[in-house]
Amino acid sequence: MKVAIASDHGGINIREEIKQQMEEMGIEYEDFGCECDTSVDYPDFALPVAEKVAAGEFDRGILICGTGIGMSIAANKVKGIRCALVHDVFSAKVTRQHNDSNIIAMGERVIGAGLAREIAKAWLTSDFEGGRHANRVGKITEYENK
Ligand code: RB5
Repeated sequence: MKVAIASDHGGINIREEIKQQMEEMGIEYEDFGCECDTSVDYPDFALPVAEKVAAGEFDRGILICGTGIGMSIAANKVKGIRCALVHDVFSAKVTRQHNDSNIIAMGERVIGAGLAREIAKAWLTSDFEGGRHANRVGKITEYENK
């Protein structure tokens, strides 16, 4: 699995924690920034990651900003992206199983590094269940392709 990860200035610390988590798990990733101390605009980081995931260059994406909200709104504008804003381990697991989410967003001003690592671990190790959930996700894709 190849993961694209990025954050704005509000998510740098958790981005580093999750990179460490992926290294421990042996998961390949590429970091798309930001390399910044100053304020940047979250769409400039969410959209390239979302486009790379949608294009199949990466299997999954992880985006972090202050709240995770801006990143998730921006990522979900890209066709083919199902980005889930997640701040608990249960939702991290279920959004893979039921929604086949291909990106997660988190907020560094919302949760701590330990929980963020657990969320990333649960999300990266959970699989889509298909079945009735495939039918539901299919309806979203169908709408998107209209
Ligand atoms: C940046 O101040 C903040 O707005 C951003 O990180 C994010 O929370 C937006 O949704």
